[in-house]
Amino acid sequence: MELIEGIKSRRSIRKFTDEAVTKEQIEEIVEIARFAPTWKNSQSVRYVLILDKEIKDRIATEAVMNFDWNTKIIQGAPALVLLTTVDKRAGYEKDGSASTSKGDHWQSFDAGITAEAFSLAAYAKGLGSVILGVYDEAKVIEIAGIPEGEKVSALIPVGVPNEDPQAPKRKEVADLLRVK
Ligand SMILES: Cc1cc2nc3c(=O)[nH]c(=O)nc-3n(C[C@H](O)[C@H](O)[C@H](O)COP(=O)(O)O)c2cc1C
Repeated sequence: MELIEGIKSRRSIRKFTDEAVTKEQIEEIVEIARFAPTWKNSQSVRYVLILDKEIKDRIATEAVMNFDWNTKIIQGAPALVLLTTVDKRAGYEKDGSASTSKGDHWQSFDAGITAEAFSLAAYAKGLGSVILGVYDEAKVIEIAGIPEGEKVSALIPVGVPNEDPQAPKRKEVADLLRVK
């Protein structure tokens, strides 16, 4: 898929067919997403693939802060990927001291870049996904058994698309770009 066309035509997919997503498919996507840039090449982003329906359903019902919209998306997706990030890597020196004035900022920044790379790779492989930001992190950590020292930076349901949404309206370049 051509790069610019892929960036522009990728959509958030919230409805999926019943077709299963395999560990091998997600491995192929991670194989691509791992090339996303990270702070000083910290590579602190991890992927937790949840195929177990019981765990997925618990996250959908107990860990999305009663936001039914997200409950339905996760329940309808055959796979859920948690993007996690290892603490005190992005933005920090090896001795644990902060390298910049922005503290933990770079940790979720890295996760964001990776989330886009992951979404585009999934799209190129014929899968749909959506980045979810409305969830209760502590609950997700508890339900999914995420080790201490990792944050949950995003939830990404993945599956074969069962919708073809229009692009939500974007601001014009003139509204976004300031030149000084
Ligand atoms: C950080 C982040 C958090 C998001 N959280 C949610 C969410 O909780 N639920 C949801 O349905 N979509 C969520 N989205 C998807 C956005 O709504 C979507 O990207 C936006 O409307 C643009 O649509 P598009 O991705 O199809 O271009 C999130 C996207 C990002 C980047």
